[in-house]
Amino acid sequence: MRDVAIVGVSQTKFGELWEKSFRDLVVEAGIDAIRDANMNGEDIDAMYIGNMTGGLFVGQEHIGSLIAEHSGLTPIPATRVEAACASGGLALRQAIMAVASGYYDRVMAAGVEKMTDVVDATPAIAAAADREWEAQQGVTFPSLYAMMAKRHMYEYGTTREQIAGFAVLGHKNGALNPKAQFQREISVDAVLNSTKVASPLNILDCSPVSDGAAAIIVCPADKAHKYTDTPIYIRASTQASATISLHNRKSLTTIPSTIFAAKKAYDMANLTPKDMDMAEVHDCFSINGLIAIEDLGFFEKGKGGQAIEDGLIERDGDIAVNPSGGLKARGHPLGATGIVQAAEITWQLRQEAGKRQVSDATSGITLNIGGTGGTAAIHILSVDRK
Ligand code: COA
Repeated sequence: MRDVAIVGVSQTKFGELWEKSFRDLVVEAGIDAIRDANMNGEDIDAMYIGNMTGGLFVGQEHIGSLIAEHSGLTPIPATRVEAACASGGLALRQAIMAVASGYYDRVMAAGVEKMTDVVDATPAIAAAADREWEAQQGVTFPSLYAMMAKRHMYEYGTTREQIAGFAVLGHKNGALNPKAQFQREISVDAVLNSTKVASPLNILDCSPVSDGAAAIIVCPADKAHKYTDTPIYIRASTQASATISLHNRKSLTTIPSTIFAAKKAYDMANLTPKDMDMAEVHDCFSINGLIAIEDLGFFEKGKGGQAIEDGLIERDGDIAVNPSGGLKARGHPLGATGIVQAAEITWQLRQEAGKRQVSDATSGITLNIGGTGGTAAIHILSVDRK
């Protein structure tokens, strides 16, 4: 196996982007990533594109071909990868494995979703849950995560304010991110008093419905200096699955696919949670951010709420979590999220993150989750500082 490095990254602005189509978004992200890698389009050997449900949101399938055509990159192989909200993380993993195996040299991993063209996004998002046993019974994602929140509060005494604190942190960081959907701070009171969605979760606990795309270029680590002065090394790329339905889990307060993928990732990188300077975690709902910082081993199970309250995951805390604003404030165009998480860690490690820069970081981890954890994808990235 060859070591792999990231040499180009990009993201479009995330938000309600009425003026841009699905194809505009992904082509814009792809071109910017190719430019960032100091490459030309013809240098790319293959593309993997994370997209959850172009079919339900914009009536478009056969995404690989569409994007190859509109980026002018035919006839290179273009493959769509789908694993609900983890589609981007898995697309990146496919790109990394293609380079690691020696099959290709320069591969693009992209992710895209255009969610705001439908009147109601909820039925399309619910397709990521168990259709027969959950979605069809009216149990959509806010209510699934609401059950996890209630159980966490019951088992560990986690307070409603602590859960809200994760959303407050996202907006605090997102306010410094010019590409974020929401660039304004919110307070715990604002979260607690916002419109109820599924008790105990309110609208300000939820990631929004978003349009956006992101792209990453990977190549063999020993060739990376040809394209960039600051390659970002892939130290681990792992994936795990768990039951798609929540009722078949032993516990509602942990996501077993995260635990499994995280253990593999730390082993692969020969690093521990304590070695991580920052993390981009999957806070599709505030409770999921809280569960993530426990499942990734940053804090003991049940102590995540206290860590949030004590400011331990702020940019200058023990570990900087979601310096980009996370899914909550940066936005969550489903297929793009796993890609933009790794792009954010790359900008941070290159020290190109502007006002939201985390100081002295040399390593970071991403956690991208599909559904309520039916799929988890984890990447650990690092930089060599001379
Ligand atoms: N956070 C902050 N503000 C939000 C928001 C969010 N998640 N969602 C909507 N808003 C704001 C909008 O910007 C709008 O503000 P404006 O009036 O100043 O323009 C206002 O709230 C109303 O927006 P609207 O689009 O009518 O909200 P909605 O009720 O249709 O949607 C949710 C709200 C929570 C239902 C929707 O954001 C949602 O479904 N989020 C979860 C997405 C999801 O499940 N992702 C996958 C996870 S696995």
